[in-house]
Amino acid sequence: EADKRESLYITTAYAAKFFADKLWNTDEGRSIGLSYFKERGFKEDILKKFEIGYSPEEWTSLYDSATAEGYKQEFLEETGLVIKNDKGSVYDRFRTRVIFPIHNFTGRIIGFGGRTLKTDKKIPKYVNSPESEIYYKSKVLYGLFHAKKAIRERDNCLLVEGYADVLSVHQAGVENVVASSGTSLTTEQIKLIGRFTNNVTILYDGDAAGIKASLRGLDMILEEGLNVKVVLFPDGHDPDSYIQTFGASAFKTHVELNTKDFIFYKTEILLQDAANDPIKKAGVIRDVIESIAKIPDAIKASVYVRECSSLLQMEEQILISELNKIRLAKS
Ligand code: UTP
Ligand code: MN
Ligand code: MN
Ligand code: MN
Ligand code: MN
Repeated sequence: EADKRESLYITTAYAAKFFADKLWNTDEGRSIGLSYFKERGFKEDILKKFEIGYSPEEWTSLYDSATAEGYKQEFLEETGLVIKNDKGSVYDRFRTRVIFPIHNFTGRIIGFGGRTLKTDKKIPKYVNSPESEIYYKSKVLYGLFHAKKAIRERDNCLLVEGYADVLSVHQAGVENVVASSGTSLTTEQIKLIGRFTNNVTILYDGDAAGIKASLRGLDMILEEGLNVKVVLFPDGHDPDSYIQTFGASAFKTHVELNTKDFIFYKTEILLQDAANDPIKKAGVIRDVIESIAKIPDAIKASVYVRECSSLLQMEEQILISELNKIRLAKS
């Protein structure tokens, strides 16, 4: 058991070194991978810090090199670095992609995300490692190892969608940032954040999918007893594109001016659709109360009920009875 896991860790560590070597020390890696990152505005420091790499175009470059060095095929397969097809031939999972190693929070590499450099929409943008005995996706936050100190110090965790967002925000000098890459946010991931801070700020993409995920995420975070705020980005922007377009200091200002407590954020988002339709407005109120009902701390919940009452001009007593109804139905 423990021996096998150790073998898997050694295999992923080897692969990360292999990919990094290809990025920095080969013509193909430099001309395709490194220039891609430079065009996107990533500096060498940040690429080195996150142990970013490049996987060559060839079908079996990692496989050949790893097996020649004595790494067992069994562990290459188990970690998903190579794939064996029906006919029994073996090839690398990641090819012609830039590689984001995924660390657990003690800093060991447990999996990888690989981004294509092609713009062809038929090719999946990211390919990720499958789960293995060392990689449980629901329990991992991308960037946590590099963020945990800053999360403690700032007593706040920024939650973004993607690998590139983590790198960009970090490069902008804001290091308390993680992503739930490759899965939608899980309760285990929130509990993991809870070991370092009780405060989460969601910075998801400013598109319909990002907004939907933020509403789902904030309910889950409330349910775990953490405080949650949200920053909305202009349509079509994510934290990375915002920084690359407007700069690091504009990003920090945007976050400062647009960090909203969940209740203001949710109300604002939902009211946009409700306009002046009273029925829809009633639905918004009920929806906001449902979020408040997820807060385990009764005192905190009642503070939010009061906030909601003034925000939506609805008698507090009515909101309280609605809250109690939801609570009763759940218990
Ligand atoms: P996005 O589509 O927002 O990509 O997916 P991105 O992070 O902004 O990527 P860039 O800026 O185009 O490079 C957000 C995250 O969802 C996961 C990845 O973790 C990605 O970072 N994802 C996305 C996948 O796992 N597979 C995909 O095909 C797409
Ligand atoms: Mn997105
Ligand atoms: Mn729960
Ligand atoms: Mn994005
Ligand atoms: Mn992006």
